[in-house]
Formats: sequence, C-alpha cells, structure tokens
Amino acid sequence: MNILITGGAGFIGSHVVRLFLKSYPKDKIYNLDALTYAGNLENLKDIEDAPNYTFLKADITDAEEMMALFEEHDFDKVIHLAAESHVDRSIEDPLQFVKTNIIGTLNLLNAALAIWKKDFSGKLFYHISTDEVYGSLGSEGLFTEETAYDPNSPYSASKAGSDHFVRAYGETYGLPYIISNCSNNYGPNQFPEKLIPLFINNCINEKPLPVYGDGQYTRDWLYVIDHARAIEVIYKNGIQGETYNIGGFNEWTNIDLIHMLCELIDKELGRAPGSSKKLITYVKDRPGHDRRYAIDATKIKNELHWEPSVTFEEGLAKTISWYLNNSEWLQGVTSGNYKEYYKKQYL
Ligand code: NAD
Ligand code: TYD
Repeated sequence: MNILITGGAGFIGSHVVRLFLKSYPKDKIYNLDALTYAGNLENLKDIEDAPNYTFLKADITDAEEMMALFEEHDFDKVIHLAAESHVDRSIEDPLQFVKTNIIGTLNLLNAALAIWKKDFSGKLFYHISTDEVYGSLGSEGLFTEETAYDPNSPYSASKAGSDHFVRAYGETYGLPYIISNCSNNYGPNQFPEKLIPLFINNCINEKPLPVYGDGQYTRDWLYVIDHARAIEVIYKNGIQGETYNIGGFNEWTNIDLIHMLCELIDKELGRAPGSSKKLITYVKDRPGHDRRYAIDATKIKNELHWEPSVTFEEGLAKTISWYLNNSEWLQGVTSGNYKEYYKKQYL
C-alpha cells in the first residue's frame, strides 16, 4: 500500500506518521507537507530515516502538483490532515483558510478521483476534521454524528466546507471516504498558539496568561496520541461513507483547566504553589467565541472499541514535561515570525 498522510509535519500529523510507520512497516508512508509556520520536520527527527518513509514538500493548494504526485506515487489511501488550524488566525485572514482547507481539499479529491475512478477497490480518502463544525452548545447536550453543522468561525466554516465536499464526492462520484470529527487535542509538538502550549510557554517565561472573556468556555480535551490511535482504528476498521466523532469524555472550563495546569507546572518547576496562577490575566474575548464543545464518542467506542488510554491529569503531566525537556524545540518555534504573531494577537 502507498499511504499518503498530508500535514504530517504538523502537530497531530506527526504523531499519525509515527504510529503508521510502526504499525504498517510493509507499506510506504508518504508525508506531504508545505512546511508552513505550523509544519516542522523536527517533529519527525526520530523517524526520518525509516526505510518506508518519504517526505514530499508540496502545497495542497497547487492542483497540478497534487495531480502529478498522485500519478507518480500511485497512492492507495489518503489520510488528510493538512490545514490551517487556528481560530484566531482565521479571524485575521479567512481567505487563507478557504484556500488551504477548502481548495486544498478539493485539489486532493480531484487528484484521487482522477487516479482511482477506474477502480475504487482498496482505495480510501480519510478526511480529518473537527467538532467545531457543529457550532456551539449550551450547558446541556453533546455533539453526535447526526448533529447538524452550524459553524461560527472562519476556521470551522472552512472545515465544514471541506467535510461537505468530501461527502459530496462520495455521493456524486462514488469516491470511498470516511470523515472523523475530533475534539481539542493537546500533547507534545503542539504549536504554542493554542491554549495549552501557549500557557505552558508563558508560565516557563513568567509572562501573563491571557484568558479570553470570562474563562467559562468549555472544551473536551483529548491527548494527541489517543487521537492518532483513533485515526488508526478508523483507518483499519471504519465503514466507508461513515462519520465518527472522537472525544476524550473530558470536559473542562478554560479557567479550571488553567488552574490545574498552573499547579502542575509549579510542582514540576519547583516553584512556590500559586506562583503561576498569579500570571492569569483576563483579556478581551475572541469574537464569535463558541461557548461549549462536547463530543459524544459512543459510536467509535461501541463499534470500533476505541477509548482514550490516558487520563487528563496523566496527559497534561506528560505534556508539561515534554515542553520542559524540549526547550530547543520551543525556542525554535517561538523565534522569528512567532514574535510578530504574538505582538499582533496579545500586545
Ligand atoms: P497544525 O496546524 O499543527 O498542522 C497543520 C499542518 O498542515 C502543518 O504541518 C502545515 O505545514 C501543513 N499545511 C498547512 N497548509 C498546507 C498546505 N497548503 N499544503 C500542505 N501542507 C499544509 O494542525 P493540527 O492541530 O495538527 O491539525 C491537523 C488536522 O486535524 C487539521 O485538519 C485540523 O483541522 C484537525 N483537527 C485539529 C484539532 C486540534 O485540536 N488541533 C482537533 C480536531 C481536528
Ligand atoms: P484554542 O486552543 O485556540 O482551541 P479552540 O479555539 O479551537 O477550541 O482555545 C481553546 C480555548 O481557550 C478557547 O475557548 C479559547 C481559549 N483561549 C484563551 O482563553 N486564551 C488564549 O490565549 C487562547 C489561544 C485560547
């Protein structure tokens, strides 16, 4: 099998590439990534010499390049993670999200269709998406696979658009596909623009911890390696044409999560209890901020026998120690353009 993983140099993609190399040593694993600010080959240093691994530097917004790569490498399976992934950036530049997340996905769909249409057997287009496409919940209820799409941010609208196109290519042209929609991930290698790594980095550097609005927003959190495990289970045993919700059964308000994070970091750094909490600063809210996301992951649990393997406390502790032990990685990604982004977003 020739397995194409897009966005494999990013946060989740790098964990998926590593897991697939280990699980499928006889298959060829191709990692296609444009290496935007979020892509980093340092994430894959440990596996770059694996005999069944090939890195392809390419941009999914380039239709001709996608077609040429499908012709050259004869991919059988696609696991599509490449995307613009940060809500705050989508508020600043929605068009970039349309280009990457919608046009980029269409380019991959068109290339796959052109190469596969004579015989779809053994082929799969597996699209990785987010729970944010379902919009925002009140204090009750959970997102199921049947929940109507109701995206509120340019990011979630662009992911919803890409999900719709994948499904439409399945219905219209018979392209074999699966979609999964996952809750918020955290863990090693996450770019420090998202809540958890940004706050870890700011705690380390004793900088303010910018809590948006009243801090009472709720997210469901899943350790990234458990997401990668879920992707593998769906890849192997998921039913074509189906959607699977993936979640951690783990809802936290931002402020409660931040308090726990601060306590763990103080312990890990040997700082006096309460030191990091003093850095908490309430700042202007994100426009259109979704109040609550919560996933009902019973379908994947019951049908595919997947469930999270680490508790939130364990996962957070592992994540904090990863960032403390990988200060070079953190310094590498927070120099240069990151400083400009940070200034614009927070100062
Ligand atoms: P990320 O931002 O860390 O990584 C995205 C990767 O895509 C980077 O390596 C980047 O270089 C690459 N990329 C961006 N534009 C590209 C282009 N035009 N061509 C080729 N490569 C390009 O993102 P992530 O957090 O790892 O998310 C991966 C996927 O999972 C995304 O599709 C995202 O929507 C989805 N997802 C993320 C989360 C989360 O909590 N992070 C939750 C659910 C779903
Ligand atoms: P984020 O990690 O950006 O994920 P998403 O918006 O996709 O859920 O944010 C998680 C939550 O944390 C969200 O409610 C916004 C909030 N947040 C802050 O309060 N401050 C910050 O600096 C960031 C980045 C996020």
